Amino acid sequence: MRVITQLSTGGPEVLELGQAEVPEPLPTEIRVRVAAAGVNPVDWKTRAGGGMAAVLGPPPFTIGWDVAGTVDAVGTGVTRFSVGDAVFGMPWFPRQAGAYAEFVTAPSRHFACRPAGLTEVQAAGLPLAGLTAWQCLVDIAAVQPGQRVLVHAAAGGVGHLAVQIAKARGAHVIGTASSGKHDLLHDLGVDEAVDYRAERFEQVVDPVDVVLDLIGGEVAVRSLDVLHPDGRMICLPSAAAADAIAAAAERGLRATGMLVEPDGDGLDELARLVDDRRLRVLVAETFPLERAALAHRAGELGHTTGKLVLTV
Ligand SMILES: NC(=O)c1ccc[n+]([C@@H]2O[C@H](COP(=O)([O-])OP(=O)(O)OC[C@H]3O[C@@H](n4cnc5c(N)ncnc54)[C@H](OP(=O)(O)O)[C@@H]3O)[C@@H](O)[C@H]2O)c1
Repeated sequence: MRVITQLSTGGPEVLELGQAEVPEPLPTEIRVRVAAAGVNPVDWKTRAGGGMAAVLGPPPFTIGWDVAGTVDAVGTGVTRFSVGDAVFGMPWFPRQAGAYAEFVTAPSRHFACRPAGLTEVQAAGLPLAGLTAWQCLVDIAAVQPGQRVLVHAAAGGVGHLAVQIAKARGAHVIGTASSGKHDLLHDLGVDEAVDYRAERFEQVVDPVDVVLDLIGGEVAVRSLDVLHPDGRMICLPSAAAADAIAAAAERGLRATGMLVEPDGDGLDELARLVDDRRLRVLVAETFPLERAALAHRAGELGHTTGKLVLTV
């Protein structure tokens, strides 16, 4: 099968098209013929030697965790899927999933049925970013109707899904993005859009119950100024979370880091929101598998609207 590999960590140019054996599913696993693979910041961080590179071990390895495709074989014991089913998932994270490839094998419970309302390309953009938003807003923060939720980078991969999930929970949502993206934010349901380039959000936003920090650094620390004393901030860029969590503790505020986990039930919840027309996935751009390096160059600029997806 065709696969993107890298023999060393480094810039986008280390991503090479290679060949590998088609993997066989073990008991409880399915093999998925990958139609599309989502691209996430953890992909380019790992490619460069950060992110989950320490988990994967020394290269060669194949990055990528977001998969949409068709079940191609099932291991013994699998009852949830049959050959031919359309599925999507974020298998194995943070271990190697090898999603930048034509086939992936993984436990069946790392997948869910692809909702009819999403194309394969859209579905490939949903798992990692959508599960992150779901696990933060629902599992950790348990957002309630009427609560105020501040989403930083609200037009990005995680942000645009988080906005819609928070709205589906009945929250009042404040989102930050550059002004050119504010029409989109309102379209997604944002109640208050803040142009982070023109104003300091902490000067214009009233106290919030939940901050979803997708930026880190000083944005995370400044977010404490708008956090209600009983509120909670969730810091997602892992490398930057420790400082913000310590700053929160000094002020008697709650801040936590988190790392998204494979979660078939969470995928089912996301699919249900799609079916109910309360969640859509925006795809900014697609790239053929062999152009993975170009996708990384685009993503690393840091201004993607929605998701980048590789077509396999
Ligand atoms: N811990 C976990 O499990 C986990 C899971 C998922 C993601 N993450 C991390 O969360 C971060 C975001 O991920 P993502 O997939 O959403 O990234 P992304 O799609 O690449 O984010 C791009 C967005 O960031 C916005 N942005 C850039 N600087 C901003 C600022 N100062 N204020 C507000 N918005 C800004 C851009 O909007 P403009 O064009 O308007 O600037 C753009 O729309 C990454 O660091 C990622 O690694 C962690």
